[in-house]
Amino acid sequence: MYEITPALLDVVLGHARSWFEALPTRPVCASASSDQLRQSIGGSMPENGTSPAAVMETLASAGMTGTIASAGPRYFGFVVGGSVPAALVADWLVSAWDQNAGIFALSPLASTIEQVTGSWLRDLAGLPSTMSFGFVTGGHMANFTSLACARHSILRQAGWDVEANGLNGAPPIEICVNEESHYTIFMALRLLGLGSARVRKIPADEQGRMRADRLAAALRKTSGPCIVCAQAGNVNTGAFDPLPTIADVAKERGAWLHVDGAFGLWAAASPKHAHLVHGIERADSIASDAHKWLNVPYDCGLVFCADEAAHRGAMSLAAAYIVATSMERDPHEFVPEESRRARAIPVYAALCSLGRRGLAEIIERNCRQARRFGDALRAAGFEVLNEVVLNQVLVSFGTPERTHATIAAIQQDGTCWCGGTVWQDRAAMRISVSNWSTTDDDVERSIDAIVRCAHAVAD
Ligand SMILES: Cc1ncc(COP(=O)(O)O)c(C=O)c1O
Repeated sequence: MYEITPALLDVVLGHARSWFEALPTRPVCASASSDQLRQSIGGSMPENGTSPAAVMETLASAGMTGTIASAGPRYFGFVVGGSVPAALVADWLVSAWDQNAGIFALSPLASTIEQVTGSWLRDLAGLPSTMSFGFVTGGHMANFTSLACARHSILRQAGWDVEANGLNGAPPIEICVNEESHYTIFMALRLLGLGSARVRKIPADEQGRMRADRLAAALRKTSGPCIVCAQAGNVNTGAFDPLPTIADVAKERGAWLHVDGAFGLWAAASPKHAHLVHGIERADSIASDAHKWLNVPYDCGLVFCADEAAHRGAMSLAAAYIVATSMERDPHEFVPEESRRARAIPVYAALCSLGRRGLAEIIERNCRQARRFGDALRAAGFEVLNEVVLNQVLVSFGTPERTHATIAAIQQDGTCWCGGTVWQDRAAMRISVSNWSTTDDDVERSIDAIVRCAHAVAD
């Protein structure tokens, strides 16, 4: 019962095959209700065990009805991407190997791949080769880690050891954030004891770009340790803050500049779009997500830091039993976690299988597809609320009620999946194009479905 037999692996492969075969054609929405799911997988915890194959059977059948096809080609709800084949199967190997990627001594391969992959990513994004990096669970933790580095560095410069002494009695920190920052910036500030409400929110323009003139004015009113949080890729509009000017202003003030590029950083991989992220190489810290637009499985955020000593200072932990066995890099020194998955391996696989060209092609295709959505929906008489500069499209179908009803109809229809948002006090539908497998035909089918649902709601 506890053996990993060839037969069990065949069973799992069979379930996975059925899943992948259905993915491009199945309804994007889930077909089972939560009550139905609870019925199939719930009840009380079994007293006696069941064979792994039987457990797989239950899971696989629930998976067919209870999942959203967010890994598939017509999911446009959040910027989630899917998984390119090499990354997906590399992730299976990661599970098979069950390596602890925290320490070199526990997995030389995981550590070495992380080092190679991090330096490739740094290069891909045009970042200085001196930047340190870490692989975290996602964008939120990448923002958290970045801001922990910031907190460490600016307080150390003010003569305060925050890791030892905490924040009680520490010099006050000034924090300026784009008012349109992703909520995980505020969450990270909260977790770091910096307070989500104690920030100066810098006004943004109509696309959500932080206004550099307003930042400069705000910074003139500040003194002491200071952090500026900018954004490369607004989660609604896809817009980029004017990073070169923001970097000038922040550097002149001596502030730590953090940039959240959860999905926007990937624009750097495309020669056509790289200009959008220009200036990010001057940031002190950068957060990004490989599990978004690089299309690797979940559990993969990235943090880059210009000050390796601050990075290590904020994240390193020490214990008598963790003795460095070599001069090799221990991944845990750059992230909040100790034991963890070898999450760089799927990233390595994705980069090897796509190459620079393949990744650029995905980014450019998705951006072109987003423009097609915008043009087609505008031509169909609906209002597109943003400049489609990247992969995000915001559409209004008229009144908030009609927009909400249209989104619900689209989700119910199942051809594609788009979510709702509020943009500058207006209800909108958000289309995020970030999946490697989305074809132009998927986009046309989705446009037809959206227009059909919008008209049905209006009638
Ligand atoms: C700009 C931005 N920052 C941070 C995040 C959080 O990323 P994660 O969901 O991986 O924690 C997101 C997620 O959409 C995002 O778009």
